Amino acid sequence: MDPVKEIVAERERARGLSDPNANVCFLATVTPEGGATVRALSLRDIDRRGFGLLINELSPKWRQLHTGAGFELLLFWPTVHRQYRVRGPLAPMDDADLERYWSYKSHGSRLLELYYPTFEPQSTPVPSRQHLLDGIESMRRKFPSPEDVLLPKSLKGVYLVPDRIEVWHGEAERLHDRRLYTRKDRGWEVQILVP
Ligand SMILES: Cc1cc2nc3c(=O)[nH]c(=O)nc-3n(C[C@H](O)[C@H](O)[C@H](O)COP(=O)(O)O)c2cc1C
Repeated sequence: MDPVKEIVAERERARGLSDPNANVCFLATVTPEGGATVRALSLRDIDRRGFGLLINELSPKWRQLHTGAGFELLLFWPTVHRQYRVRGPLAPMDDADLERYWSYKSHGSRLLELYYPTFEPQSTPVPSRQHLLDGIESMRRKFPSPEDVLLPKSLKGVYLVPDRIEVWHGEAERLHDRRLYTRKDRGWEVQILVP
C-alpha cells in the first residue's frame, strides 16, 4: 500500500465534500530558541515528487526549514476523518511548476509576495497597518495589472519528499486506525500504532 496514493484519493474525496481544509496543510518547525511553532500553508499538488509548497525565502519558516532542527507537515481533513503527519527532506520545484502556480495567484497575492523583497520581509513588525497598505498601493500603481508583477526570486517552490507518513483514520467508538509508513528501498513498510 502506497500512503501517498491514499492521501491523493482521500483529498479528492474531501474536495468532493467541500472540506475547507482540502487545500491547506500545517507546517511545524523549530524556532532558533528551540521552541515549537506551526502555521497553515496552502497545499499545492501532491504527486510522486511529494507535497508541493510555496514559501518565500525571507520568512522565518524558510530559515527554520534549513537549520536541521526538523519539521513536520500535518494534513487534517475532517470531512473524511483523516489526519496525516508527513516527514522527509525538501526538494526544489521546477521553474515551470512554480510559474504555473504564480499564474494562478491574484493581483493582491502577487503584490504581497513582491512586498517582502521590496519593503519588509514576511513576519516583520511594521509601524502600522497603513504603512503596509501604502507600500502595497505604491506597487499597485507601478504594476497596475497582475501580469505586470513578475515572480520575485525570493518565492521558492519546494516539495516535501515523504519518507515517513503517519496515517490516522477516524473510526467510531474512538478505535481509530493508526499506521506508520516508513519508506524503504523496496517500498513502504507499515506498522500498526495504538490509537
Ligand atoms: C489557510 C491559510 C493558508 C496560508 N497559506 C500560506 C502560504 O501558502 N504561504 C505562506 O507563506 N503563508 C501562508 N499563510 C500564512 C501563514 O500561516 C503564516 O502566517 C505566514 O506564512 C508567516 O509564517 P512564518 O512567520 O512562520 O514564516 C496561510 C495562512 C492560512 C490561514
